Amino acid sequence: MVSTNYLVIGSGIAGLTFSVKIAERFPERKVVIVTKANEDESNTKYAQGGVAVVLDAEKDSFEKHIHDTLVAGDGLCNKEVVEMVVKEGPQRLKELMYWGANFDIAKTGQLDLGKEGGHSEHRVVHYKDITGREIERALLQRAHQLENIQILPHHFAIDLITNHHLVGVNGDNDACYGAYVLDQKQGRIFTVKADETLLASGGIGRVYGHTTNPVIATGDGVAMAYRAKALVKDMEFVQFHPTALYEPEGESSFLISEAVRGFGAYLRNKEGHRFMLDYDERAELASRDIVSQCIDNEFKKTGDTHVFLDCTHLDVDAFKAHFPNIYNKCKEKHIDIATQWIPVVPASHYLCGGVEVNKEGKTSINNLFACGECSRTGLHGANRLASNSLLEALVYAHSIFEYHCKQEPEFKQVAIPDWNDEGTVIPKEHILIQHNLKELQALMRNYVGIVRSNSRLKKARKRLDLIYNEVEDLYRESKITTSLCELRNMVNVAHLIINQSLLRKENSGGYYNIDNT
Ligand code: FAD
Ligand code: SIN
Repeated sequence: MVSTNYLVIGSGIAGLTFSVKIAERFPERKVVIVTKANEDESNTKYAQGGVAVVLDAEKDSFEKHIHDTLVAGDGLCNKEVVEMVVKEGPQRLKELMYWGANFDIAKTGQLDLGKEGGHSEHRVVHYKDITGREIERALLQRAHQLENIQILPHHFAIDLITNHHLVGVNGDNDACYGAYVLDQKQGRIFTVKADETLLASGGIGRVYGHTTNPVIATGDGVAMAYRAKALVKDMEFVQFHPTALYEPEGESSFLISEAVRGFGAYLRNKEGHRFMLDYDERAELASRDIVSQCIDNEFKKTGDTHVFLDCTHLDVDAFKAHFPNIYNKCKEKHIDIATQWIPVVPASHYLCGGVEVNKEGKTSINNLFACGECSRTGLHGANRLASNSLLEALVYAHSIFEYHCKQEPEFKQVAIPDWNDEGTVIPKEHILIQHNLKELQALMRNYVGIVRSNSRLKKARKRLDLIYNEVEDLYRESKITTSLCELRNMVNVAHLIINQSLLRKENSGGYYNIDNT
């Protein structure tokens, strides 16, 4: 067993920012970060566009950013939360820069500010088109300098430990005592007993067949919290990014940043028509729920599988300087952006809902906090405004840190039973896990996508029930593996998305059900 003051599950922007802050302030307190892949693997690492922060005092204002966030969220944001996050942005960005994160500087000598869909002003701070990689690098570097942080890569959190695991502790006033963790290299499961636990486990993109998210995004934190009976909310609001690179056979969709549209690129159908002008006066810079729904509508009208992003009228050298990563990816795929349009398609990108937290990041279970994409703070409402996610993680990591500055870690004298895998065997047919995964992803893409209907959702639920039963049987009988746990988590997440979709009777933001119109 490992004992610690803070167990942090995940090493993206949310987990690392909290860890660095608490470890800097309290060198005597111990932080253990478990993370299931290489320490830098995360959605954070792939963030392109940047961090939305109000910095241009002449043109921009907090009021404008608040307004844009509320409009994108389509009436379902918590205004108090929006105000808190937007107003704290500049201070949190400063800290990130203090820890060594670089951002592009404009000719004026000030930070270069990009523009993305739904933003009325230029306010997206970025490092070329690899902003996330740079933030992740800087945070990891700082975390490694702090002796009271221990990072355990290739360690997978299986389940949270709560009252029901303990002998003689009743289920009321539930609390979290850490997690059972699989050391993926040794194949050993051990207990991490923690005074306080932070879920910072990121998104759920992989529940869908086509996603901009890396393979780690399997919704583990949301599923663990749900199984522990924490409140989980707004799961129907899965955000689809309008412009992932179209690759017919590909699963992992490379993102063509919204900042490219902010830079002047046009969306066209195969006839060359700039169709966004038919739908919204903001055209390509409407918020991404609208752009994705319009593209979906174009597909339904034409039977096409993708549309195009036209950059041919843009200054190629300036494009290369701003978006070297995207330029090189296109080149690798034999797309010359100066003369050819880039084929694009919407792909699942971001979870607006998640584990419900208050303004201090507390979940409905004592001593359990959630931060970043796995949490539901009320900032995004029915649709997240571009580049508000990294910002949210920074601000909430700080709120959780502040809460813990006023609070000694809460040591609890409890006896936690070891993980019990008596009677389980190594599964003979690993391929079953792959088959179920493929079926799940196809089901979610085909029945629970951008445009939904009650009959499709109900069909999806029926089929998912079959997968659920198979996976639960497998889980009970088998020695634990990462892929089996991830599949189990994705099935739980899919259930949450479908069930919460069926409960929503009005269309808002990223949720569109033809039976609600
Ligand atoms: P992550 O960065 O995903 O980190 C989660 C961590 O948890 C990972 O280390 C993972 O390995 C670990 N983990 C997960 N499950 C377990 C488990 N069971 N056990 C142990 N460890 C676990 N947002 C913006 O604001 N601006 C952008 O420009 C932007 N661009 C994006 C581009 C792409 C391609 C993608 C995919 C997302 C983008 N986003 C952007 C969204 C943003 O990157 C994420 O929402 C944000 O980085 C999430 O941070 P996080 O710390 O919550 O989670
Ligand atoms: C992008 O660069 O288009 C992604 C921005 C985001 O998800 O906020």
